[in-house]
Parts: sequence; structure tokens; C-alpha cells
Amino acid sequence: MRFAVVLLLMLTGCSKPEPVYQWPLAEGFPQPVVPAANPMSAAKVELGRHLFYDTALSANQQQNCASCHQQQHAFAEPTKVSSGSTGQLHRRNASALVNIAYNNSLTWAHDGLTHIESQLLIPLFGDNPIELGAGGHEQQILSRLQRTPYPELFAAAFGDSQADFRRVVDAPASFSRSLLSFNSRFDRYAYQQDDSALSAQELLGLNLFFSEKLECHHCHGGFNFTQATSHERQPLDRRPFHNTGLYYVSRPDLAGKGYPQHDTGLSEVTLNPADDGRFRAPTLRNVAYTAPYMHDGSLATLEDVIEFYAAGGLQSEINGELSDGRLHPLKSSFVRGFKLTDEEKQALLAFLHSLSDEQFVSNPAYSNPWPQAATH
Ligand code: HEC
Ligand code: HEC
Repeated sequence: MRFAVVLLLMLTGCSKPEPVYQWPLAEGFPQPVVPAANPMSAAKVELGRHLFYDTALSANQQQNCASCHQQQHAFAEPTKVSSGSTGQLHRRNASALVNIAYNNSLTWAHDGLTHIESQLLIPLFGDNPIELGAGGHEQQILSRLQRTPYPELFAAAFGDSQADFRRVVDAPASFSRSLLSFNSRFDRYAYQQDDSALSAQELLGLNLFFSEKLECHHCHGGFNFTQATSHERQPLDRRPFHNTGLYYVSRPDLAGKGYPQHDTGLSEVTLNPADDGRFRAPTLRNVAYTAPYMHDGSLATLEDVIEFYAAGGLQSEINGELSDGRLHPLKSSFVRGFKLTDEEKQALLAFLHSLSDEQFVSNPAYSNPWPQAATH
């Protein structure tokens, strides 16, 4: 009898089912697909949030994920490019983390990075540039994760209190996936049947955005305003990378011209010169919070972005040389340039602002869980 009770306790103790994770999704939106090796759970998201905001993750304790991914900027940051924990400059602008659970490719230009778990190895261990600089300091970092409340958080998320780097990657990946934004005024108009949610000016902008004249929707399409989306109802992997005509300068390695050699986009990964200057079209949700724009933060404002598309590319000067991205032979045929009246430009701008979700940038579930003195 006693034996049976103990056995029963053991059985129920061992097979305690993980409560099913509730995606904070508005009705009608598909669920993201998550790697089988790292299923979502509320406990893992909570551990991930603590790690995301903890400078213990960087070797010199100067930086955490939130140094470069700031909530009030939709988890982007207001500098052209990021700088790492030792001060080295990154060549790119920090990606906004908005609905990235749906992204089928990660970073600005990589068709092989399809899981957040693998992408996170770059800020943690990468040395070109050093971001968190964890490489060679693993034991030191793990020993910092012995302090309260980590043992309980690890135990709740993984069943025991041990910290290892697999868990230190999986939990922030789950937290990153939990950052969902579906509460803009555009959403109220488009998905919640609130016809008054958008003004006449914003509707004019919406119609321009989806027009064949501007073509914005070709690359910023679907409910996330990016082609780089897959989910339970759309597993399709469409290539979301485009050359928008930002640059065209001398490239000794090509014996010709192209994007500047320090960042040629997808071609770096595929080694195919036809991919020169191709970058991922990012989501435009919350784009008003994420200035400056483009992979290198080269366009300061949304007005500049609209002028850029109206001109059909960018004219600039790079190291004394005139760069005319409009002439790049690999520029997408959807970036042809167009003429808009001032009123229409303002309307397009107003539409882009209607994609802002104020709750997302202030949601306490996404914010720093630590008492303020303990971080930064
Ligand atoms: C030094 C600044 C910096 C730090 C620290 C940093 N990131 Fe990033 N993050 C970036 C930049 C820059 C990119 C774009 C990289 C690229 O395109 O090559 C990026 C891209 C990402 C992406 C890809 C998003 C997408 O939609 O493609 C994710 C996810 C991400 N970071 C999460 C994190 C997490 C989690 C941490 C902490 C473990 C972290 N980052 C630490 C700067 C940083
Ligand atoms: C051919 C595909 C394509 C079309 C058409 C297109 N975009 Fe883009 N968009 C991109 C790509 C790719 C990027 C990133 C480029 C880079 O960083 O080099 C981008 C970047 C942006 C950004 C900056 C986002 C950020 O987070 O930095 C904004 C804003 C934007 N586009 C708005 C628009 C608007 C408005 C239109 C219509 C006038 C439009 N796009 C048309 C592909 C496109």
C-alpha cells in the first residue's frame, strides 16, 4: 500500500505536464512555429527575461541584450550602428525585436540563420565585433548565475537549477519569441473591425502603401509587413532579400562596382555576386520607434526613407566617391521611384506611424524585471 502511494507520487511528480504556453495572440492570428528542441513555456520566458536584462551575460559585465535592444525603441536602438561591451563598433543597426517568432530568417542578411537559438550565439560568442564577449568566460558567467533568483528560475524552466549555456541560449530565445505586437491602430482597423481607428489621412497612406505605384507591399507584405514570415499556416520559405539601391561604389574585389565591401549583404553568405546588396525587408510594425533606418542606420528619419524610395535609390558620397545606388544593376525592379505630392508623403508617413503599438513599448511583461540598481 505504502509502496503504491510512493510510486504514484513519483509518477505524478515526474510526469507533471508542462502547462501549454499561451501565446498572447489576438484572435485569428496564426501561432508561430517553434523548434521542437526548445518548446515555449511561461517559466522559460521569465528566466529569459531576467537574462536579457542582466549584464552578467557579458564577460566584463558592461552590457546585456537590452543595451542594444531597448524596449522603448521596439527593441532596436537609436544609434546608427551598435557598439559592443568592449566598445567595438558593429557594422549594423540593431534589429527591432517585433514578432520575430515568425521570422524564417534572422539578422539583416542571412538565409541560413533560421533559428533564434543559433543566431544568439553571435552576440554571445562572436568576436567580429565583440558584443557580449562570453567566449572564454563561460565558467565565470555561469557562476554569476548561481545567485537568487536564478536557481528557482532555472528549476521552474528546466526542471533543475543547473545553469549551462544551452539553457542560457534557449531561455532568451523564448523571451525574444514572446515579444509580440498586434495592437496598433492599424490592427484595430484591419483586424478588429474598428473603421474609425484610422484617420482619412492614414487611409490615404494605407492605399498608397498597397498601391502598384509605390509597391511597398511587395516586399513588406503580410500581417508582419515583411516577407520573412512563416507560421503554422504558411511554412513556405520565400526569399525575402532585396537590393533597394542604397549604394553603388567601386569594389576592387569585383573589379567593378557594388555595395561597399564592408557590408555587401546576402552575397557574403551565399558567395554569389548576384546577391550583392540584398538585405531582408524588415517588419514595419513599430517602425516609428526604431530610427535610424536600414541595415547600417544610414537613413535618419522615416521622411528620409520615403524620399529614398521616391528617388528610386540613394545618392551619397562614400570616401570621396559618388555612390549612386539608383544605378545598381541588381536593384529590385520594384524600387523604381515615384512622384508624390506633399500631402501624399504626409499621408504615407501617417500610415507608417499608425503601425505603432504603444502597449508593446511599455508592456511590463517585456520590461526589466530587476530592481533598477542591479543592472546597467
Ligand atoms: C552590441 C549590441 C547587441 C547586443 C549586446 C545584442 N544584440 Fe541582438 N542584434 C544586434 C544587431 C546589430 C543585430 C543585427 C545583426 C546583423 O544583421 O548582422 C541583432 C540581431 C538580433 C536578432 C535577430 C532579429 C531578427 O529579426 O533578425 C535577435 C533575435 C537578437 N539580436 C537578439 C539578441 C539577444 C537575445 C541578445 C542577448 C543575448 C542580443 N541580441 C544582444 C545587436 C546586439
Ligand atoms: C524591393 C523590395 C522593397 C520595396 C518595394 C520596398 N521596400 Fe522597404 N525595405 C526593403 C529592404 C530590403 C529594406 C532593408 C534595406 C537595407 O537595410 O539595406 C527595407 C527597409 C525599409 C525601411 C527601414 C526599416 C528599418 O527598420 O530600418 C522602411 C521604413 C521601409 N523599407 C519602408 C518602405 C516603404 C514605405 C516602401 C514603399 C514606398 C518600401 N519600403 C518599399 C525592401 C523593400
